[in-house]
Amino acid sequence: MMSLNYAFGFSILLLALVLLNIYFFYTLNTVDRKSPKFNIPSLKLDVTSSIVGDIYEYLNYLPSQYRNKNPKFAVIKKNLITSFNNTKNVNPTSVWLETTSWSNNNSLFPHENGAAGKILQMLQTSHIAFVDNAPKGTQLKLLFLIEGNQKVYFKPKRYDLSHTIQGSIYAGYDRHNSEVFAYYMAMILNFKWIPPSVIRKVHMDKDVLPVATNGLKSTILKKNDGVSCIYGKCFFCKANETVCPENNGELEGAAILYLDKQLKVYKSPWRRKVKATLSRKRLLNLINVAIFDFLIQNGDRHRYEVYGDQIILLDNGKGLGNPSVDELDILAPLYQCCSQSQLGDI
Ligand SMILES: *[C@@H]1O[C@H](CO)[C@@H](O)[C@H](O)[C@H]1NC(C)=O
Ligand SMILES: *[C@@H]1O[C@H](CO)[C@@H](O)[C@H](O)[C@H]1NC(C)=O
Ligand SMILES: *[C@@H]1O[C@H](CO)[C@@H](O)[C@H](O)[C@H]1NC(C)=O
Repeated sequence: MMSLNYAFGFSILLLALVLLNIYFFYTLNTVDRKSPKFNIPSLKLDVTSSIVGDIYEYLNYLPSQYRNKNPKFAVIKKNLITSFNNTKNVNPTSVWLETTSWSNNNSLFPHENGAAGKILQMLQTSHIAFVDNAPKGTQLKLLFLIEGNQKVYFKPKRYDLSHTIQGSIYAGYDRHNSEVFAYYMAMILNFKWIPPSVIRKVHMDKDVLPVATNGLKSTILKKNDGVSCIYGKCFFCKANETVCPENNGELEGAAILYLDKQLKVYKSPWRRKVKATLSRKRLLNLINVAIFDFLIQNGDRHRYEVYGDQIILLDNGKGLGNPSVDELDILAPLYQCCSQSQLGDI
């Protein structure tokens, strides 16, 4: 029943999106330039492409109702802020007990009544009992055990925020900020199937080395200036590609809640380029995820993880590579589904 409702709801949403698109392009061509001009704030935007220029120009002539925020939005926004805003008197043991025993068909973790904020605060500030390599996966990351016996992944910062990744959509190391951005964006979009993630700074000599396992120590090099740098253990980890602390001795990274749940892993049918037999719910769920990945520009979801029958957004580090490029391919699950009538009567 749940999945049918979901599928139906999403079908309506898709239909609405398509209609909106048609309407949008129709109105774009018939923009009424006599209506009062509303000067939208200037954006740092590449308007060399004509379609972007047209959209930007059209925004100045939007009818007045589009300039007022929908009052329904205020309630949603308030609830969202409240879920992050209640971080007083946090008891680590009870936060992790609630989080790990959470069982719900609508979200991977508790988020209401300040639960999301408490989880982030614990991820960001809890005392670290030990640090090890997290060898699973292609990218360097560490595993922390924090107060309350909770495991946390730590994906270190590799690039400054302003760095632009050139080359293919898969190029470069993971971006730690993409993990954190993905979490907040998913919460805003009401897609609550993503592990909480927050920026954390740890001191290499005070927080990491004293509690590093021998395995981790064997992948740490001391540079000539006495600074300890980690090359870690992972598929692409190389001894000449280390992560070093900043001048103040701190390593910045994304602290991501470790998911101690039974997950099933599937190859994405779009990676295999075959039309697999998928349930309608799964296909709609994949399209949902494709739209999300398009927004963060993550072209790296070759496989996807499923908990129960819900795809979860695990590993969002390959987003935010190059702000000047929109990789439309990421939307293939959306545009191919409709052209190939895979969804039957939608
Ligand atoms: C969030 O918390 C701050 C500080 O406690 C408070 O000033 C602010 O009004 C709160 N915001 C909301 C939306 O609850
Ligand atoms: C989730 O949904 C299934 C049926 O789809 C139901 O049996 C189960 O009780 C639900 N679990 C929770 C925690 O609501
Ligand atoms: C590290 O060494 C490998 C060869 O082992 C090389 O391909 C790679 O480019 C080197 N990385 C850097 C940052 O120099």
